[in-house]
Amino acid sequence: MFKFASLLALASLIPAFVQAQQPLYAQCGGTDWTGATTCVSGATCQEVNEYYFQCLPGTASSTPATTTTPATTQPGSTTTSGTGSPTTTTTPSTDNPYTGYNVWLTPYYADEVQTAAGQISDATLKAKALKVADIPTFTWFDVVAKVPTLGTYLADAQSKQQSSGQKQLVQIVVYDLPDRDCAALASNGEFSIANDGLNKYKDYIDQIVAQVKQYPDVRVVAVIEPDSLANLVTNLNVSKCSGAQTAYKSGVVYALQQLNSVGVYMYIDAGHAGWLGWSANLSPAAELFAQIYSDAGKPSFVRGLATNVANYNALSASSPDPITQGNSNYDELHYIDALAPMLSSAGFPAHFIVDQGRSGVQDIRDQWGDWCNVKGAGFGTRPTTNTGSSLIDAIVWVKPGGECDGTSNSSATRYDAHCGQSDALQPAPEAGTWFQAYFEALVSNASPSL
Ligand code: BGC
Repeated sequence: MFKFASLLALASLIPAFVQAQQPLYAQCGGTDWTGATTCVSGATCQEVNEYYFQCLPGTASSTPATTTTPATTQPGSTTTSGTGSPTTTTTPSTDNPYTGYNVWLTPYYADEVQTAAGQISDATLKAKALKVADIPTFTWFDVVAKVPTLGTYLADAQSKQQSSGQKQLVQIVVYDLPDRDCAALASNGEFSIANDGLNKYKDYIDQIVAQVKQYPDVRVVAVIEPDSLANLVTNLNVSKCSGAQTAYKSGVVYALQQLNSVGVYMYIDAGHAGWLGWSANLSPAAELFAQIYSDAGKPSFVRGLATNVANYNALSASSPDPITQGNSNYDELHYIDALAPMLSSAGFPAHFIVDQGRSGVQDIRDQWGDWCNVKGAGFGTRPTTNTGSSLIDAIVWVKPGGECDGTSNSSATRYDAHCGQSDALQPAPEAGTWFQAYFEALVSNASPSL
């Protein structure tokens, strides 16, 4: 009786306790949110996006707040003024950006893989295929229309980070330069230089930056513009490439500067051993990367280079593929070891990530330059920071295996002859769309096996 009376007395004294208060960093609002909308003392409920309000440090009074200015920043970074862009000054970690982070799984690829597995009748192959949904790949922002999904991905990564306590890293590919894919046809993009493409590209970058800025506590790693600068090293004899030279350089410089302002760790694409790894190309490549880096003001979040993106080379081949004859840099490790000292002396940070997503099987190409849906390929080494080289931050899967490299339909506008060669699997759909037969082959040929 006495206990009951005292509890009643206590409850009448502290009515605020009737409504729960959310702890620091918990959700406190957003579309369909039905939980508490107030935060513990010292924290304020702030709108991160329309779906997610969060208790962030601070004592502003309105609940929920409507500001979209984040109150926290990337580890090692601080947000400064609130006007214009960029507004964030940042200090990157000097360590491998992958260390200590869980690489977030993109639902885009997981959905593709699960749908594909659903079409496989062989139970053993199907079980193997399903495992691919748990292997992290990069998400390609190959058209500006996809950029809004980046916000939903970052929100998901942020909420996983908060619920698990495990820091999350989201991997993206920035891939929308005007006059894209200048030496090939299969991946011609949506912007053309003649039609104000450089400004449209800058807007695309701005949209990415705006998304990233809203999730300052989620780490983002980006591969910058596959093939673009490599084409400027070796393919200026192709008129589309020489015509694109200025726009590619300005576009990449702009991307580096703007993404740097919101703390995105960047690896610029550097082709592969069979492209820039030839001795005549190494030094011009190092010079170009260093020049672009310097033109951008040496952005501190540029971590290094990405190699072998969407290609098939081994990191470390047990023996040289005969097609590599004449190039002592017959695999990615040899290429990286040869390029790194040149980069360092040119003042460019010599760190690397290497795509091994489709490198499981070697010696499958007729020529080293063959890049389109090469027959016999298998999924390769799983993503890891255990790379065996202090120059290599991580083995990654950049190309989402199963997405096509280019159509084999010779009457299509984006038909490239590489996709019609005898070592290319056919019939193949348009670049970037799902290629079921290719995916199934990657699964069954995977090495290590799935
Ligand atoms: C295609 C892109 C696609 C990417 C990843 C490229 O070859 O052009 O559309 O997003 O591959 O699959």
